[in-house]
Amino acid sequence: MLKAEGVTVVYNGKKVLDDVNFEVEKGELSLLVGPNGSGKSTLFKVFAGLVKPDSGKVLYDGEDVTSKPAHFRFRKGIVLAPERMRVAEKLTVEENLKIAGKVSKDVISVFPDLRRLMRQKAGTLSGGERQMVVFARALTAKPTHLLLDEPFQGLSGEAADRMLMKIVEMKEDGVGIALISHERVEDLLVYADSVTLLLGGQLAYSVRVVEPMKVFGKLKKFMML
Ligand SMILES: Nc1ncnc2c1ncn2[C@@H]1O[C@H](COP(=O)(O)OP(=O)(O)OP(=O)(O)O)[C@@H](O)[C@H]1O
Ligand SMILES: [Mg+2]
Repeated sequence: MLKAEGVTVVYNGKKVLDDVNFEVEKGELSLLVGPNGSGKSTLFKVFAGLVKPDSGKVLYDGEDVTSKPAHFRFRKGIVLAPERMRVAEKLTVEENLKIAGKVSKDVISVFPDLRRLMRQKAGTLSGGERQMVVFARALTAKPTHLLLDEPFQGLSGEAADRMLMKIVEMKEDGVGIALISHERVEDLLVYADSVTLLLGGQLAYSVRVVEPMKVFGKLKKFMML
């Protein structure tokens, strides 16, 4: 299990995350929602080892990894698919994937479009194509815990459906998945095991999802979905 305990991050004297608890259990999908600037991406960076918390802990299967570097966590299986379609622009699609590991047919089959894009420089890809590369790269790393930050951004409805089905398949295969999204929250709640709402860096609402529609109604009250 991947777990944040009492995580606080301060930027320029402002608490961007304030005593936040959040966990990602193997074989579960944990949704993380909240308005712009509420601290969601920062929490994922804390998990991945890209931001050091001012206080609090990150635990991986009970081991305190708070002071372990990003590459250590990546090797353990904590893999972040970052927001805003971040790819290595000067490398080809194939090279981008190879950074993460051996490229498998299974990963490519999620987005067959990737096949014809393999030799194209990632910097020349469209937004949606980049997003496919970000997702495929994360899968190539064979995560035990996958952190997906706004994975649907820029994708067509069909591509987003394919991604969602892959997410559900991975969850059933035992991968722990945490997902930040402003999009398709209603669809995601059908598959989510838990949902957490951050408001201004604080945990405003966190529940196990038993009745998706009820939870969706609650979230709607907190924020405009
Ligand atoms: N390196 C940094 N230095 C200073 N402030 C930062 C830094 N990174 C993030 N912040 C601030 O921390 C707050 C939380 O940012 P974060 O990216 O975690 O939000 P978010 O919930 O992911 O928002 P969005 O939905 O827009 O992606 C924001 O107010 C942001 O301006
Ligand atoms: Mg963000």
